[in-house]
Amino acid sequence: MSRSLVFARRRARFFDGMKEGVALLFATPEAAYSHDVHYRYRPDPDLFYLTGFTEPEAAAVLDADLRTFTLFVRPKDRSKETWEGRRSGPEGAVRDHGADRAYPFGDLSKRLPDLVRRAHVLHYVFGAHAEGDRIVASLLARFRRETRNPKRGPATVADPTDLLHAMRLVKAPEEIVLMERSAVIAVAAHREARRLAKPGLFEYQLEAAIDSRFRAMGASGPAYPTIVASGENATILHYTENRRRIGAGDLVLVDAGCEVDGYASDVTRTFPASGRFTRPQRRLYDAVFSAQRAAIAAVRPGTPWDTPHEAAREVLLDALLEVGILRGRRAVLKKKNAAQRFALHHTSHWLGLDVHDRGRYRDEAGAPRKLEPGMVLTIEPGLYVRADEKGVPKEYRGLGIRLEDDVLVTEAGARVLTESAPK
Ligand code: GLY
Ligand code: MN
Ligand code: MN
Repeated sequence: MSRSLVFARRRARFFDGMKEGVALLFATPEAAYSHDVHYRYRPDPDLFYLTGFTEPEAAAVLDADLRTFTLFVRPKDRSKETWEGRRSGPEGAVRDHGADRAYPFGDLSKRLPDLVRRAHVLHYVFGAHAEGDRIVASLLARFRRETRNPKRGPATVADPTDLLHAMRLVKAPEEIVLMERSAVIAVAAHREARRLAKPGLFEYQLEAAIDSRFRAMGASGPAYPTIVASGENATILHYTENRRRIGAGDLVLVDAGCEVDGYASDVTRTFPASGRFTRPQRRLYDAVFSAQRAAIAAVRPGTPWDTPHEAAREVLLDALLEVGILRGRRAVLKKKNAAQRFALHHTSHWLGLDVHDRGRYRDEAGAPRKLEPGMVLTIEPGLYVRADEKGVPKEYRGLGIRLEDDVLVTEAGARVLTESAPK
């Protein structure tokens, strides 16, 4: 399927879901890194999902009644393109991105009233884009003023988030291909880190090897700041300083994933820097490993999304009791969710165009969503015994262990996309 057909089909499904009205989506603004230098630009995942358009200063108007797609984009500009890079321009937006019409972004406020006036519903997410909010508020204010115009603009503003994110949650085959590629590259980077790691190296040296492998294999870069956490740094969940020298008896926790055409991988491995676990390290590692296996075994269509989490928690609770980190009656500890003090985070999140991908985990009544083929979620149990933790055996203090894989729900059950990163 051609790339533009992929996006056209997504828009068609979005139109069906909208039922009526006009949707308005804005590109993420560029973010300043230093006064006139920007961070690497990351397109808004929702706009990208529906259009494939990746430039800043853009807006899409999607009309479900007419089933048309209008793009507002940066105009061609020879001088700016010389300094900042190529632009599609309105011509390219029509030619390459399947827009029915395209105009310069600067014309948006002028053209928007006529594009929206007929609609009964405006699908727009307030609170996500400051300039967009301003443009929409003044559009609605203008309609309110036009008391003599028989078409007074939309009476309803509806949030398209649930619809869009429910679509994003179930990956189509062309998305799975990209997620598989993202997983393959992440696995290669983890293998590289494992090969290089030894006591005496600095955490940033492993980070450099990982991020270099990402780029060398064609990923756009890390999907989130690469975590290389040695020793007790591994008890900081999103540790990113990466500047400590790895010690001889340390565990090293590496949480690193990359981005391929927008799609994230998210993988964690924990291993002894020296190649050999100490006994307490081994006991906790085995607990996390078993918890992960139990959780992965629970992934299949029709299962509530948090069943794998519960399976992992059972195993972790048993292990915490066995090693004496928790003491007391199992039933009581389970009721109090006592494992939480050391397990800290949930076992899973959705994965896709966002590393913590969008989409609801529960329905309106609070019931957990059921897994469906095409969903991708992480399975990432962990145990973290902070160095200042009171009342736990000394030998476990300062240990942090997480194992994280990316799991695709299939018709038959599940496929672990990142299995070949060594455990
Ligand atoms: N790397 C962030 C996470 O595992 O959720
Ligand atoms: Mn994760
Ligand atoms: Mn992670």
